[in-house]
Formats: sequence, C-alpha cells, structure tokens
Amino acid sequence: MVTGGAGFIGSHLVDRLINEGNSVAVIDDLSTGKKENLNPKAAFYAVDINAPEIKGIFKKENPEVVFHLAAQINLRDSVINPLKDAQTNILGSLNVIDNFLAINRKRLDDQKIKFIFSSTGGAIYGNANIIPTPETYREFPLSPYGVAKLAVERYLNYYHEAFGMSYAILRYANVYGPRQNSKGEAGVVAIFCDKMLAGIQPEITGDGLQTRDFVYVQDVVEANMLVMKKNVSDFYNIGTGIETNINEIFDAINGYIGKGFPRKYALAMSGEQKRSCLDCLKAQQELGWDPKISLNEGIVKTVHWFLNKS
Ligand SMILES: NC(=O)c1ccc[n+]([C@@H]2O[C@H](COP(=O)([O-])OP(=O)(O)OC[C@H]3O[C@@H](n4cnc5c(N)ncnc54)[C@H](O)[C@@H]3O)[C@@H](O)[C@H]2O)c1
Repeated sequence: MVTGGAGFIGSHLVDRLINEGNSVAVIDDLSTGKKENLNPKAAFYAVDINAPEIKGIFKKENPEVVFHLAAQINLRDSVINPLKDAQTNILGSLNVIDNFLAINRKRLDDQKIKFIFSSTGGAIYGNANIIPTPETYREFPLSPYGVAKLAVERYLNYYHEAFGMSYAILRYANVYGPRQNSKGEAGVVAIFCDKMLAGIQPEITGDGLQTRDFVYVQDVVEANMLVMKKNVSDFYNIGTGIETNINEIFDAINGYIGKGFPRKYALAMSGEQKRSCLDCLKAQQELGWDPKISLNEGIVKTVHWFLNKS
C-alpha cells in the first residue's frame, strides 16, 4: 500500500514496486498528486487518509507493507494553518497507522509486516549547528509541518513498543526529479526548470547563499526498497551530505538550458533556514544505501523530463 502514490515521490516508488513484481494499492486524494502519475497496474482509491473508508480499503487490500507518503507538504501553509496541517499530517497518519495495525494484529511477528514513513530531515532538526546533521542531533522543528512529522515518528515508536509493530522512518533531505510539482514550495529545482524552459526569469529568494541537500528521487525510492527488506525498527537520514546553495542550483540549470538568465534576487523569506544538510552515514552503514545520482546528472534528467512534458 502506498499512500500518496499519485504524488511526486510516491508515484516513482509505485512504479519500482510494480516493476519488481509486487502488487500495489494506492490511496491518494489527488490534492497535489496527479492521475497521470498513477501506474495503471496499481489498484487506486481516490480517498482522503482521514476518511472512514480507509478501514474498508485496508480490509480489502490486506497490505503487508505500508509506505505512508500522503501529506500536506507545504511548510509555509503549515505555518498559516497548523490545524489543517495536523488534520492530515497527524490525524490522517494515525488513521492509516491504526487501520494497518488493526488488520495485522495477529501477524505482527511476521518480518514482512512493516510501516514505512516518509519524514523530513530538512525540517526536523531546526537550525542545527552540526552540518551535515546526523540522526543523533536533537530534533527541534521550527514549523508545524516539522512538529507533525516528529509527532508521527513518536507514535510509530509507541506502536512498536506497545504492540511490536515494525516501522522504518526515512528523513528525507530536499528531494528533486521528474514529476515534482513546480507549483509547490519545496521544489526549487522544479520551479527553476519549469520557468526557464518557459522563458520566464526565475527569482532567487534572499542572497541565494542558503544551502540545501539535494537528493534525486530514484535514490529515495531505493532507500524505501532497502528498508522494506530490513528487519529493524529504526530511522535514517536520506540525503547526500553535500551542501549546495541556491545560486549554484540556478547556475547549473541555467547553464544546461542555455537561455542565459541573469541571477535575479527577491526578498528573503523571514525565518528561512540558512543551512540544511544531512549526515547519511547510518543509512550507508546499516542499509548499504548510497545516493548514486550526482546533482549534475539529476538536473539533466529533470530538465529533460520538463522539456518533454511541455
Ligand atoms: N519532496 C521533498 O523534498 C520531501 C522532503 C521531505 C519529506 N517529504 C515527504 O515525502 C512525502 C511525499 O512528498 P512529495 O514531495 O512526493 O509530495 P506530493 O505532494 O507530490 O505527494 C503527496 C501526495 O499525497 C497526496 N495527499 C495529500 N493529502 C492527502 C490526504 N489527506 N489524503 C490522501 N492523499 C493525500 C497528494 O495528492 C499527493 O499525491 C510527503 O510525506 C512529504 O512530507 C518530501
């Protein structure tokens, strides 16, 4: 079962699961996801994760593994409306976890049964003073979005301790790649690609020296595949450990597309994190996971996808 399977990351994960012979069901209310992202071989339920219908879907599909990606992903919206964010990202998540537990209560000692949660590394550590930031750094989210993700992590730990439900938590850095919504706020690569290809000058907020850790979507999918097969309940940072600033992203995409846009700056967003980068040694050592796609390669693949789409 993949919640959010019509979205950017979720749809790539669904494709990979199906290519490897798994049978997959998707729950997605299509609020930001798209029908065209959906793999036709997946059973599809256009349902909100908060809805009571979730119970019947779990009973019917009886999934051994849930990848829970459905979420309100806009950090700024979570600041404007924390209640709405919590409704999906905390209560909706609890509805999914609860129904997963209900159908699996009698087989929790089966190693296949596992709940895999897409969390955030970018928004969970706050303004960390250790960069790259390891999982041992104390969580101190500075947005309702980050608080909600941390709350679900804690619930999973509770369900594990109380009932023996296995889980894996993946704390992603800034994920980019084909199918990313260029209208969302997280996807600076998508926004720059979309605008530049349309001949529109993109703006860099602030001085462009703020850094992020950009990880390609197929590497994130690979991390999900690896934890599915791993018999531990644990959490992992999933990034590259490489800091890249927004000016560098602008220049790389601009250079590749070749339309010669000058750097244009707009007002900095208040409270924006200056640096964010994840130490991913734990995933390397314990999962054998390594990001394979370099930023340059990933940008080329992403630009080509936007080019073919338009
Ligand atoms: N993209 C990133 O850089 C990034 C970084 C850290 C964590 N994440 C997490 O990864 C997951 C996937 O993010 P994405 O970038 O693919 O975003 P996305 O918006 O493309 O995917 C989210 C999907 O969830 C669906 N959805 C939203 N609310 C729903 C609801 N109430 N009921 C059912 N479906 C609902 C949307 O329609 C969408 O298809 C999210 O949980 C997000 O918080 C993403």
